[in-house]
Amino acid sequence: MKKYLLATAIATTFVLTACNLQTDQPLMNAEKTNTQAPISQTIWHDDKAQMDAFITELMAKMTLEEKVGQMTLFSSDWDVTGPSLRGDYQEKIKEGKVGAVFNAFTAKYTKQLQKIAVEETRLGIPLLFGYDVIHGHRTIFPISLGESASWDLDAIKLAAEVAAAEAAAEGIHWTFAPMVDVARDPRWGRISEGSGEDVYLTTAIARARVQGFQGDDLSQPHTILATAKHFAAYGQGQAGRDYHTTDMSDRELRDTYLPPFKAAVDAGVTSFMTSFNELNGVPASANKYLLTDILRDEWSFEGFVVTDYTSINEMVKHGFARDNDHAGELAVKAGVDMDMQGSVYFDYLANQVTQGKVSPQQIDNAARRILEMKYRLGLFEDPYRYSNEEREAQEIYKEYNLQAAQDVARKSMVLLKNENQQLPLSKSDLTIAVIGPLADSKEDLIGSWSAAGDRYEKPITLLTGIKAKVADPSKVLYAKGASYEFSHQDNSGFEAAIAIAKKADVIVLAMGEKWDMTGEATSRTSLDFPGNQLALMQQLKKLAKPMVLVLMNGRPMTIEWADQNVDAILEAWYPGTMGGPAIADVLFGDYNPSGKLPVTFPRNVGQIPLYYNMKNTGRPYSKDNAEQKYVSRYIDSLNTPLYHFGHGLSYTTFDYSKISLNKAVITAKEKLTASIDVTNSGNYDGEEVVQLYIRDRIGSVTRPVKQLKGFKKIFLHKGETKTVSFSISTEDLAFHRQDMSFGAEAGEFDLFIGTSSDKVQSSEFTLSGSVD
Ligand code: BGC
Repeated sequence: MKKYLLATAIATTFVLTACNLQTDQPLMNAEKTNTQAPISQTIWHDDKAQMDAFITELMAKMTLEEKVGQMTLFSSDWDVTGPSLRGDYQEKIKEGKVGAVFNAFTAKYTKQLQKIAVEETRLGIPLLFGYDVIHGHRTIFPISLGESASWDLDAIKLAAEVAAAEAAAEGIHWTFAPMVDVARDPRWGRISEGSGEDVYLTTAIARARVQGFQGDDLSQPHTILATAKHFAAYGQGQAGRDYHTTDMSDRELRDTYLPPFKAAVDAGVTSFMTSFNELNGVPASANKYLLTDILRDEWSFEGFVVTDYTSINEMVKHGFARDNDHAGELAVKAGVDMDMQGSVYFDYLANQVTQGKVSPQQIDNAARRILEMKYRLGLFEDPYRYSNEEREAQEIYKEYNLQAAQDVARKSMVLLKNENQQLPLSKSDLTIAVIGPLADSKEDLIGSWSAAGDRYEKPITLLTGIKAKVADPSKVLYAKGASYEFSHQDNSGFEAAIAIAKKADVIVLAMGEKWDMTGEATSRTSLDFPGNQLALMQQLKKLAKPMVLVLMNGRPMTIEWADQNVDAILEAWYPGTMGGPAIADVLFGDYNPSGKLPVTFPRNVGQIPLYYNMKNTGRPYSKDNAEQKYVSRYIDSLNTPLYHFGHGLSYTTFDYSKISLNKAVITAKEKLTASIDVTNSGNYDGEEVVQLYIRDRIGSVTRPVKQLKGFKKIFLHKGETKTVSFSISTEDLAFHRQDMSFGAEAGEFDLFIGTSSDKVQSSEFTLSGSVD
């Protein structure tokens, strides 16, 4: 991000006035501000020197308390995303002691709060408005894990762009997204907020989302600041319990959990959020190793670091700080620039500087980083430019956004099973029984962390989607049948469900988890269907009719019975505002499913953690030693998952040729090209995600059995063949070696290309000579 706003004509005069701080008057006021200025009236240019000069001059006028104010973030009362609210935050804004507010939105409300900061504080420094714009703002897209299942980086970027445009029009400058935590434990409810278990895929998606939210130019009014969260290793909490302890080797941290964060920095992300967990005994919000040594010194990150919600205060309960005062000192010294909701910087920081415990330079650095972002957003030219009621009215839920949401939703769906080509369904002739607690539920469709999305009116349900699709909607019968509440015992709904199922040619079940069973603070010890959903499915099975299961859920579930007993399974995640039409598009063949699992589906909870790129062990289990006792396996379950990472069917079939390599041996400076022909051998046009995996056979530290190193999503007409090529360089083979240096090692490698991590063609190559 190198562009800074230079306003034209009227606004230029205004900037000059604003820079004149001699009088200590508010920087600007509403009259002087052209809030409705069209973008075409501004020109943009690169000028870091101008920004530095402006902020230096501004900071020279600021008191210590005002600088600490910039480091303070309070929640408004419009949304509750954590414990305890500070009721007096508006008063504190007026005192110049609050620089940023979250959970406030709409052009009107943000303008109202901004007015306090701009007109009623000594220096008139505009507020920064943050919010959890995660998978859409008003128009809700599939949950992040669902979007990730599209393996379609353009679609994922588009979803972030639409979310940013809607949020920006409602006065929001900054989203607490993307969450780039690699997560390998589906008991953890927040697995729904990330991109799954794989480092390569999560890294690619992190980049796409940062670009989508921030665009190329932060000063454009439809772009917002992004946040890479939660730094770091939050996804690895013990036993899948939220906020729990993380302890891991530096190698595992750097090879698996940090790369998506580093990719976000390289993509220009402007803020980082610390995580709730401790890492190797040190809570993330006081972890100097993470926040300064790695983030600033190694990665040269120039944005600002915000804590997670009250995570400074929580260091007292972690047993790391004596009290809040002590916790704040530890946080600021470790490199935290902004305190979210904890009121710790607000209460103690200025005093700590006065007492000589914290250096004034530390405060200056943090305040400057935050002010820079306000400048880069253009807020010093026009603090109200994001709070634009006209743009808000045009942008929110506009047709383009709804269509984009429907398209991304269809792309995110994964066809897990399709016995005897049960799907797609015919639009005419069939009587369809639509059954299940998720079939006609609006509130579930948009999942958790769905920002300001309307949960009760706007979402279009699966039942509505199916009725709109078929020739004769009167042949679509509906019964809720079962409940997804954990405590539900009452099976009285079964009768109605069985009755309509008897009349039907096909049963479409919509089952899974209730939306608020996923997301933050929703760890589970069982991943079975909650409530009496499975019991109903088992009753319906007795009718011996074709059954199609549409899953809506935020994590891999254990669905072995369904896998063995229903004909087709479509993983729809929580598909968003346009979920119903999107699922119907897939069920009736208007869209040929192309999603692939970004996360492994275990058979049972006992297998967790289960992910595709595990180590081999010294006693790997295989078909050849299946009779032996002393091998690495369970005595009561298979080792293999129910559905592998990368799995996902299509209505058509894809044939893969043998792999061809341009060389059998490469040196460190050379690139290997691996090519494969993919043919659409079925009866539908369709998309395929061609996946490349590599195994380093012998390493100075043991290597995983397979690692994703590339993928391409291609479209093939039926009968068409395309050659897909991947270029592999030594960097793709790098890892933290035994001495912790980062690089590849010479030797032999397996190379796999295929349709899923378990269905691949294989080849091999050698990396020879010296490697740095
Ligand atoms: C969550 C963050 C979120 C924040 C603000 C916290 O509880 O962990 O992901 O951004 O609340 O709502």
